[in-house]
Amino acid sequence: MTEPAKRAAGRAAATLVQDGMLVGLGSGSTMRHAITALAHRVHSEGLRIVGIPTSTETEALALTHGITVAEPDATPVDLVMDGADEIETGTLRLVKGFGGALLREKIVAQSGRRFVVVADASKLVARLGQRGRLPVEVDRFGQAASARRIAELGGAPALRCDADGTPFETDGGHFILDCMGFGLIRDPFTLDRQLRAIAGVIETGLFLLPVEQVLIGTDDGTVRVLA
Ligand code: A5P
Repeated sequence: MTEPAKRAAGRAAATLVQDGMLVGLGSGSTMRHAITALAHRVHSEGLRIVGIPTSTETEALALTHGITVAEPDATPVDLVMDGADEIETGTLRLVKGFGGALLREKIVAQSGRRFVVVADASKLVARLGQRGRLPVEVDRFGQAASARRIAELGGAPALRCDADGTPFETDGGHFILDCMGFGLIRDPFTLDRQLRAIAGVIETGLFLLPVEQVLIGTDDGTVRVLA
């Protein structure tokens, strides 16, 4: 995964934005390139847009670049762009959340009229689960009980921790269980339903909503479009 490839994908996504749009701004290193490219257009072309950030980190980056931000409450978001951790090539279904922003990412993605994914080829998989980790966001209360229920589904959950050993906390103040036991996920809709039936589960990293296109950046600066 190289910066030139990520930059190529990010720049391609920024070209899709038009004046007056509400734009969902995803999280992660590829999206940082998209936001930088978008900010360039805002300043050089006088584009009037409002960004809907999916994490406090993205919000800070957008504000640093002079992009106006808002929450997705008032009106549908015209275009949502975001990175991904796995992209199933045949279906464009995703696994997200390795960066810990999955809940806000999914709220914004579901608020969007169009959903575009930026990545490089390292994220492409034949089947979800190939990279061996499904993030699941859980309430802090009873997180061990939630983990036991997830283990009963075969998930082998591990509480995500920061470098100092304390639990990683999401922007919403929740914990993340990284589930390593699901193997290749042949029926993501059923797994998503089973996980969300556990009371302590707030959201899963399975993104099964329609993706308009996936922009795959390459080292030579070209971009492959999957749709
Ligand atoms: C954040 O929670 C994830 O869903 C990110 O979208 C994902 O990790 C992509 O990040 P990179 O572009 O840095 O790979």
